[in-house]
Formats: sequence, C-alpha cells, structure tokens
Amino acid sequence: MLALGLGGGLGVGAVAAGVVASSAGSRQGVSSGALEYPFHGERQGGILTPAQDRLHFAAFDVRAATSRNDLVGLLRDWTYAASRLVMGLGVSASGAFDGRPSLPADDTGEAADLGPSGLTLTFGFGRTLFRTAAGEDRFGVADRMPREFTPLPKQANDFLDARRSGGDLCIQACADDPQVAVHAIRNLTRLAVGRAQLRWSQSGFGRTSSTSTTQVTPRNLFGQKDGTNNLKAEHSEKLAEHVWIADGPTWTHGGSYLVARRIAMTIEVWDGLQLQEQDRVLGRDKRSGAPLSGGDEFTPPDFTKAGDDGKRLIDERSHVFRVHPDSNGGVAMLRRGYNYVDGNDDLGRLDAGLFFIAFVKSPERFARVHTNMARDDMFVEYLKTTSSSVFLVPPGVRPNEYVGQALFEG
Ligand code: HEM
Repeated sequence: MLALGLGGGLGVGAVAAGVVASSAGSRQGVSSGALEYPFHGERQGGILTPAQDRLHFAAFDVRAATSRNDLVGLLRDWTYAASRLVMGLGVSASGAFDGRPSLPADDTGEAADLGPSGLTLTFGFGRTLFRTAAGEDRFGVADRMPREFTPLPKQANDFLDARRSGGDLCIQACADDPQVAVHAIRNLTRLAVGRAQLRWSQSGFGRTSSTSTTQVTPRNLFGQKDGTNNLKAEHSEKLAEHVWIADGPTWTHGGSYLVARRIAMTIEVWDGLQLQEQDRVLGRDKRSGAPLSGGDEFTPPDFTKAGDDGKRLIDERSHVFRVHPDSNGGVAMLRRGYNYVDGNDDLGRLDAGLFFIAFVKSPERFARVHTNMARDDMFVEYLKTTSSSVFLVPPGVRPNEYVGQALFEG
C-alpha cells in the first residue's frame, strides 16, 4: 500500500510506488483505492490532507446511561477501529469473514476489497459533551471546556433544524470512494451501540475546496471555482495563525474547531441569472475564477480598482469582498466542504447545496466573518442554512493513545 505523511501532497516520490491510474476516481497517477494516510500523528487527518472526493459526516449523542468510563471505552474502541480502517482493514482482526459463523461479524464487509481509498477519520467533541443544555456535567469535564468554545450567533439566513444540528461527538469520514467513507461511519456507529447513537449524518460528493497547492481548484454546484483563496497545507505560518488552537487548556493545543453548516443553494433561481450577475454576486469570473479586478485565478483581488464608470470592479456586496480577510480584520479559515444532493422537493427543485466545513482557531473568528457575510452579501439571497454545528477537534493521536485522551487523563 502507498502511505503518505499527514498533510503531505502527492509528490513525485509517492507516485513512483508503481501504482497505476486506472479509473476516473484516481488522482494524479495514483489509484485512489491504494492511497493511504496514517492515522497517528501530530494532527488528526482530514484537515490538511488534500481534500478527498467524498464525505460522510456523522454526529452522535452519548446515551444518558453512559458513564465517563464507558465514554473513554468508546473513544478507545473508535481509535483502534479507525487506525485499522484507514489502512483498508476491517474494524477488528476477525473483521467481516473470520469470526465465528454462529455470530454476527465484527465488520459489515462492504469495503473489504476497496483498499484504504485515502480514508481519513476526524473526531470532534460538541459543547454538550462538556455540559448538557440543562447544565449537567455528565462526564466530569465541564471545567475543561475552553472559554473560547462559544456557540455561533444566529444569522439572517438560518433556518436551522435542531434534529440535524449539534451533537456530543462527531466523525468526519473523507475518502475517494463513497463506499469506504460510508463503511467507516456505519461500522463506527455499530461499535458505539449502547454508548452513543447516531443523531444526524450527511454525505457529500465533489470536494468544494483545495487544501493543498498540488490540487486543481474544483467547482461547486453554482459552477464556480471554489477553494482558490483557501488556506492550504503548505501555508504553515498562516495555519498557525488561523487554524490551530494555541490558547486555552493545553489539552486542546494543536487541535482546531470544525464548523459544519448545511447550506441549501437555490440552484434553479441561480441558473436563471445572467452570467454577468452571477459574476457580480461572487466577485470572480465564472470561467477562470479570476477576481473581477483582473489577472488570473490566483491574482489577489484589488478591491479598490474601479472601472470606466468609476464603480468598483469588485462589488462591495459580493461574496469575495465580504469574506476576504481584508474585510474581516485579517481573519482567514481553512474550508473543506462538499456538494450534496438529497433528492428534491414537491415542486421538482433539487434539495442541493454545500455542506460547508471550515477549520478555525476559534468559533468567534468564524462568527466574525460569517456575520459580515450575513449582513450584506448578495450571495445570501441564494442560500438557506438548515444545519449548523461546531465541534472541537482535539490534536492528533500518538500510537497507544486514544483520541482526546488528554481531555480525560491530562
Ligand atoms: C453555499 C455557500 C457558499 C458558496 C457556494 C461559496 C462559494 C465561494 C466561492 C466560489 C469562493 C471564491 C473562490 C475561493 O477563494 O474559494 C468563496 C470564497 C470564500 N468563501 Fe465562500 N461560499 C459559501 C459560503 C461561505 C461561508 C458560509 C463562509 C464563511 C463565513 C465562506 C467563506 C469564504 C471565504 C473565507 C472565502 C475566501 C475569500 C478570499 O479570501 O478571497 N463562504 N466562496
């Protein structure tokens, strides 16, 4: 199998392993089935890892009867299973086929022949793990929750469904094969039985971001290049400034906050807009992704540049203007979202959009940019947010540790 370092790109050395591209799902000359990222490391996978093509995201509620020891047991079990799953193995040594024939198998088997497929599993803790909405400290960790872990303020286009928001725990599974991501969530859910239950989940396809300079910028369901000016794995100084937690309790240092928002996009309305209006709303050219102030895709936008009519070339109410660091006290984020299509409504309109995921140093920094967007971004007219959650993603797991160990034993 082909193993790559955390956050590493697909360098020339990696491709030389003799694995040949064979399908549309393969990337940069490497068969996606063989691509493997290590589970252990300084950071959890699935943040800096070059964004894979598929997502299955799940949030869990810890059951009322679950004790602190049970919770730690679950995290241990998830850690062990995750360290196997990312290698393309079943959740246990007996796996899908080698258990006792008279018992259900440990693993469900549908990913048995698919390889690791670049699977990463990223675990996070919700605010309610520390203290329930009713104020209960179920696991004796309430005083270990960082002060920085604040809820997001409600925004103008929030139509949030509580049943598909929040949760005590989350797992982000990303892979280049959807069946591998689904298999991971399905089997980790199964392992949790009696201790935690699935609260909500979301699948996604077609990454809407690049998280490495080695990746080509993909397009979202509005047809726009998305991820051009994203923070990328190679920008280590910026990541230290904007993504990795460095304040508050030491057990969180090196982790990050994951913001997940299911944003429905009014596809049919958008499709009826003039091309020039679509460009004005975003502030970039749809074909090239270049800012309307000129240059190519990666030319920094010039927000002061005006056209012959004296008007700014990039509208002050465009998405790029509103969310750019220059408009938000320098704040940036690492976006890592996916498209989703969940069928259609009774009028034949697609239930589709962006499952937006961002990694940020604090929820407040995200809220600052988001509030500026919600206040006066023309884009908001075409968006409706139906789910919103924030999870604290603890730092990476060392061999013989379990995920989040420093929270319980630090
Ligand atoms: C369905 C919803 C959204 C869509 C379709 C969308 C699409 C885009 C596109 C096409 C770009 C320009 C290319 C790029 O630099 O990546 C962009 C940039 C960006 N978006 Fe969004 N976006 C959405 C929601 C959000 C939200 C909720 C936030 C956070 C508050 C956000 C934050 C950003 C940031 C920070 C940039 C980079 C701006 C820059 O530095 O130039 N976006 N988005």
